[in-house]
Amino acid sequence: MAQILKFSEEVIEKAVNILKKGGVVAFPTETVYGLGANGLNPEAVIKIFEIKNRPFFYPLILHIGRKEDANKFWKNIDRRGEKLIEKFWPGPLTIILPKSEIVPYVVSAGFENVGIRMPKHSVALEILKKVDFPVAAPSANISGGLSPTEAKHVEQQIGDKIELIIDGGRCPIGIESTVIDLTTEKNVILRPGGITKEEIEKVIGKVKIIDRTDKKLGQFSLHYSLKTPLQILRDLSEVKSGIRAGLLAFGEIKEKEKFVKIEVLSEKGDLKEAANKFFSCLYNLDNANLDIIYAQQVPEKGLGIAIMDRLKKLAIKN
Ligand code: TXA
Ligand code: MG
Repeated sequence: MAQILKFSEEVIEKAVNILKKGGVVAFPTETVYGLGANGLNPEAVIKIFEIKNRPFFYPLILHIGRKEDANKFWKNIDRRGEKLIEKFWPGPLTIILPKSEIVPYVVSAGFENVGIRMPKHSVALEILKKVDFPVAAPSANISGGLSPTEAKHVEQQIGDKIELIIDGGRCPIGIESTVIDLTTEKNVILRPGGITKEEIEKVIGKVKIIDRTDKKLGQFSLHYSLKTPLQILRDLSEVKSGIRAGLLAFGEIKEKEKFVKIEVLSEKGDLKEAANKFFSCLYNLDNANLDIIYAQQVPEKGLGIAIMDRLKKLAIKN
């Protein structure tokens, strides 16, 4: 069973030692908890895929502690990349560009490109600054499971398979990084996340968001799964009676008596608060033995785009 240790200098040191020896560690970032390994050591990286039961065709993100290190792991950075790094790193933006030769194919899942980001979290940054390699890290959940935003979520899913989980409290952003592909002339968001399309467009101009719920997209359509079915609620009249229904609420809550459990993303309709609580609320609902989770829609603007993207993927039937 994993040790869950509150962040301290000593614990950081312990994590660094595990990474240097080719092991894996779960640590907090500003978005979600990551499961990290030495990104230049293929054997260490393979452990991540095994622990998560993740398909090998699903690429990993490299995490770095200094902006200038990106030059080592990409072939070259164009002007768009430079501008985005300048504006958003450290922060929840992953940039995809052609990889350099030293990045192993197991990290990029055989592709010639690699996603890199510099996280904005003191624990993650301290670890990254103390190692001389990039840390490959997906979200620290079983493949397809909910992304963890608290140490106990990591424990629940992979606690029996790893040595150490660093507890840094609830992740401040709570939703994964935005993934942007700059390998063609078009600017394409492959995954909406913590940095909004609007924010990016102010820096590099027009950006297109791929619809990840489109089943034709193959690997990008891999979706989250819950124990409990989830339905996006357009109108309260859709709620079935006589079953244990839960509600993921946003804004004012009406007809409370229809639900046996309600988790509120944001009563005042604040999207930042909603993103922050999103995965925690879903964990609570999914652990409450419900027949169905109804999720209220949030406005599809700003962070609401990332939230609705996750909800639509959760609502896809297996
Ligand atoms: O916020 C985050 O990004 C978190 C924290 C731990 O940094 N990490 C994370 O990693 O969410 P993961 O592996 O759970 O999700 C990475 C996403 C996947 O959808 C993957 O397909 C996409 O980014 N991705 C990564 N590298 C890619 C690449 N080279 N080409 C296309 N898509 C890529
Ligand atoms: Mg993930």
